[in-house]
Amino acid sequence: MSSSEAGRPVADATRQALELLSPGSRPERLEFDRGYIDLLGDGDATGRHPGQRLMTSRMLPVVYERLWRPTLGRLLMGAIGPGTDDERKLALEMLELSAGERVLDVGCGLGNFARVFARAAGGGLVVGLDASRTMLDRAARETQATNLAYVRGDAAALPFRDESFQAVCCFAALYPIEEPLKAVDEIVRVLAPGGRVAVLSSINRGLLPAAARNAIVRGLSGVRIFARDELTHALAQGGLTAVEQRVSGFGQFISARKPAAQAPH
Ligand SMILES: C[S@@+](CC[C@H](N)C(=O)[O-])C[C@H]1O[C@@H](n2cnc3c(N)ncnc32)[C@H](O)[C@@H]1O
Repeated sequence: MSSSEAGRPVADATRQALELLSPGSRPERLEFDRGYIDLLGDGDATGRHPGQRLMTSRMLPVVYERLWRPTLGRLLMGAIGPGTDDERKLALEMLELSAGERVLDVGCGLGNFARVFARAAGGGLVVGLDASRTMLDRAARETQATNLAYVRGDAAALPFRDESFQAVCCFAALYPIEEPLKAVDEIVRVLAPGGRVAVLSSINRGLLPAAARNAIVRGLSGVRIFARDELTHALAQGGLTAVEQRVSGFGQFISARKPAAQAPH
């Protein structure tokens, strides 16, 4: 460990995460008092809808893991859909993590998935990125893992260099993000050749067109409802292959991979 300018010891995982930042994103002065790299300062990347503002409230982190997140999962995927434990298993299956790999969790919230990845990635590095201070304050406080670092940043403008991570997860975070398709492009950009992506998000079902359902649901809650092929299409457009979608209720899991780099002839 070494010290930040503010005096709090900076964990080795955070030093490694700093190395992954693109030159234009590196902070001139490292503020580490809160236990994570804060690249947004007074900026706020979460949207203005009250449903999006909730993500920055002090109350939500307190009830998030035990109450809010399981309820959200049920609302999205139905009573017999995957529960929180199933989601963890699915994330690990889709990401196919090996020891030593670098993993990014976009919209990591309290780090409920990032912590699982930190155990699976062995000596690798896991970075959880979120825009909310209140979420990250708690995530950083509760982190025991020495290979897990948190960054406060915007999913639609990821602060990392191209091809930095072998695996990128984005669970339950694309639908509250203001510019989700920009975030998808960014996920593809920071993924290394041969890398894997795992996404959990919303999806439109039934007779009501996505635009109509989205107008209602988004207007009421701030949550976006994606059209059936919107996210799979965006990932394929970005050049990812093996794009697979599994639908449960109004939720979808998507896995995909970036083709491995071609060996020179
Ligand atoms: C419902 S939580 C999901 C947390 C976690 N991934 C999970 O599955 O439980 C959505 C998260 O997305 C974050 N978020 C919203 N807009 C964001 C943005 N533009 N950039 C980064 N994170 C954002 C919120 O702060 C919140 O923590």
